Amino acid sequence: MCGIVGVVGSRRTKEILLTGLTKLEYRGYDSAGILVAQPESYYLKKTAGRVAELKKLTDSLNSEGTGIGHTRWATHGEPTEENAHPHLSKSGRFGLVHNGVIENFEQLKKDYLSDIYLTGETDTEVIVEVVDYFSRQGQEGFEAFSSMLKVTEGSYAFALIDLENPEQIFLAKNKSPLLIGIGTDCHLVGSDAMAMIGETDRFVEIMDGERIILSASEMKIFNAANEEIKRDFYLAEIDANDTEKGLYPHYMLKEIDEQPSVMRKIISTYTAENGSVAIDEHLVEKIAKSDRIYVVACGTSWHAGLVGKKMIEELANIPVEVHLASEIGYDMPLLSERPFFIFISQSGETADSRQVLVKVNELNLPSLTITNVKGSTLSREAENTLLLHAGPEIAVASTKAYTSQIAVMLYLAKAIGDYKNLKLAKSFDIAHELGLVASAMDTLVSEKDKLAEISRDYLLTTRNAFYIGRGLDYAVSLEGALKLKEISYIQTEGFAAGELKHGTIALIEKDTPVLAIITGEDTASHTRGNVKEVESRGAKTMVIAMEGLQKEGDQIIIPELHALLTPLATVVPLQLISYFACLQRDLDVDKPRNLAKSVTVE
Ligand code: F6R
Repeated sequence: MCGIVGVVGSRRTKEILLTGLTKLEYRGYDSAGILVAQPESYYLKKTAGRVAELKKLTDSLNSEGTGIGHTRWATHGEPTEENAHPHLSKSGRFGLVHNGVIENFEQLKKDYLSDIYLTGETDTEVIVEVVDYFSRQGQEGFEAFSSMLKVTEGSYAFALIDLENPEQIFLAKNKSPLLIGIGTDCHLVGSDAMAMIGETDRFVEIMDGERIILSASEMKIFNAANEEIKRDFYLAEIDANDTEKGLYPHYMLKEIDEQPSVMRKIISTYTAENGSVAIDEHLVEKIAKSDRIYVVACGTSWHAGLVGKKMIEELANIPVEVHLASEIGYDMPLLSERPFFIFISQSGETADSRQVLVKVNELNLPSLTITNVKGSTLSREAENTLLLHAGPEIAVASTKAYTSQIAVMLYLAKAIGDYKNLKLAKSFDIAHELGLVASAMDTLVSEKDKLAEISRDYLLTTRNAFYIGRGLDYAVSLEGALKLKEISYIQTEGFAAGELKHGTIALIEKDTPVLAIITGEDTASHTRGNVKEVESRGAKTMVIAMEGLQKEGDQIIIPELHALLTPLATVVPLQLISYFACLQRDLDVDKPRNLAKSVTVE
């Protein structure tokens, strides 16, 4: 994971680096550091803390120069100051920041660094020494950097400063994201556009295998064949305000509250003027002609896929398998004759998903990425892309991306069903039904006080909790449980309500919180029965029920919605309950421990 930022040619280098790193902290926040170089001097500051700590450390230091910075999610080596980036070679000549994992770093150590004692534990410090090794063989800085790339295997985004020539930054990437920004009188580089958005809206993509020399006035891009190539910039559509919290105390709360307006944005984006679905017909036709859809995703996006499966099977009448990316990549199931792959990824950068897409492309199979980030790796490498239009999601715990992934899959399901002239799809008034969802969300996000109280009553002191449901309610209980555990550290499991009695019910003790979701007419009475079963074993139960199915004593009532769309509403109180549970435990809402927003390692 990790975030990288770099600046060359600015008088405000330090400020730009620190602002960029703050924006990139969602990619990891185990440690942070910057290296700023002028012709005659440099400084390197690192901390095992967060960027706010780094700001204090660099307060009195000058700003001008060429700089690189890094915020880390530890892979090799503990999150200590020593292991923090940038890493300086022992000769003091090269400084490097890296995002990714170098697979052959042990071999590189043996091949090139047998006479050097390395004190840290990271793969990155090996790489910077390998560059130094080649320079000691008489190679110029960029040549030494290129030689290092030739022998390095793994995923990486590198930004390197040669302190003997600190008017340039050398860049390269393989599998990890890296983007150049064109500033007013400087050049920037970052793991994503958000890191640079206050400075520019003009960006240049970097492709895997390319090497770049970046100076204040020039950007030289070399392809793998060592030919210099020209590439135009593109304009990013991110509004700098979208990346701010505004008056909200946390991004997560802001993003939960944004869901009704994101739903409305999706309705206006994906509904054509004549009421039909505004998705490219060629894409719809391709999917419609497939005999099986394989959805590939991780975490919350995988949970959205479980809901999407039901929508596609019902409205488009195509069987769907939903796979965890980290599993299917190494254990491909027997594929159907005409498979179609759909990748769901908020960030579009998740390495587990990407490794599957690489294999899908090798097999020449058709694919679509559903993502929030235009130009992201998965979006570039899949045949087709549909965007979520949810605006940047910054809190590590995903909320609005989940609901928008479901809504976009709903549009896709409807488009395929319409194309196939299926009755159910044709009669499904998607804009109207999703409009009702947006209104239901408005109601649910206004119930914060009540949800805070529920969270206090049920979760304040517990060590574990269970969420149960059947069908789509089960899919949502998985997502609700993930939300609660990842930010409150309460061990929470989502379970198929009927499955609990086949073993897990042994874990129910006096006052174990069990939350049941009940929105399915045909399953309501069975789930109610499961609630009774755990109650009689001492559980402290609470119920989220849909209007019409509620019973006296149910804690949360969801306005009545189309049966396929209930997950879009039931998840909202679960997100808010998690948020309050985290606050009540005095934990870091937006940056839970051990996590990062964009998981770019397998
Ligand atoms: C949980 C969460 C993660 C992500 C997962 C996939 O709140 O955000 O489970 O859903 O890491 O990330 P993307 O969607 O970016 O591929």
